[in-house]
Amino acid sequence: MPENPSREPARVQAMFSDISPHYDFMNGLMTAGRHHAWRRAAAREAARDLAGGGVALDACTGTADFALALRQAAPDAPIVGTDFSGDMLRLGKGKTDGDARTTFARADTLRLPFREGAFRAVTIGWGIRNVADTAGGLRELARVLAHGGRLHVLESSVPRSALGRLGFRLYFLGLVPWLGRLFSRSTHDAYSYLPRSVFHWPPPEKFADLMRDCGFRDVGFRTFAFGGVTLHTGTR
Ligand SMILES: C[S@@+](CC[C@H](N)C(=O)[O-])C[C@H]1O[C@@H](n2cnc3c(N)ncnc32)[C@H](O)[C@@H]1O
Repeated sequence: MPENPSREPARVQAMFSDISPHYDFMNGLMTAGRHHAWRRAAAREAARDLAGGGVALDACTGTADFALALRQAAPDAPIVGTDFSGDMLRLGKGKTDGDARTTFARADTLRLPFREGAFRAVTIGWGIRNVADTAGGLRELARVLAHGGRLHVLESSVPRSALGRLGFRLYFLGLVPWLGRLFSRSTHDAYSYLPRSVFHWPPPEKFADLMRDCGFRDVGFRTFAFGGVTLHTGTR
């Protein structure tokens, strides 16, 4: 088992700012473009929460691909994207063509600048794993969700089958860090942090338990990519 990397906030923030210019390219390369389809599937779910109106939050929005998928799935809903990396946010803002329905704020997911129950739907894609206090982050997302609203979490996960685990190990611990060094030249070794943090991430059932402990009900999940990606949902 690889060593569990530090999620110290200043380090995580610097790491994402460092890789921001190559972030979208690396996502496309690592997933053969599939990452958009996973966000679209999650955004379709979130759009159901917004059918009767209300605002959506995309926390840890990064370069805003999840916020953009939401905008497509729920064209009438105002969307707020938050992130603590100004460099990631700047790239995200640049993709929204000045559309006034999508706004952004620099904010830590552990201390969101919104009132209780402000949102009908909250999404977070490959973000919560990087938040220093996972339970604290989930509780904060629960706080800003309206009662009956839902949280949608996309995360990487380790496949269940022996063959899937072997493939995942070879790919994530071998190829991904190499691709990262080749293309992103991260000084924080972000693409070796990524696989190491995924191997220490709780399996979907455990994460579902944590969501329940943090104030969510009707918690469920579905997987994509042979179990390499999981979409968790829970109702506030
Ligand atoms: C892997 S990227 C995911 C970006 C985007 N959600 C996506 O789907 O591609 C993780 C993002 O989470 C942000 N992040 C990590 N911890 C955070 C925190 N505590 N508060 C706010 N943003 C955070 C990072 O700055 C980074 O932009």
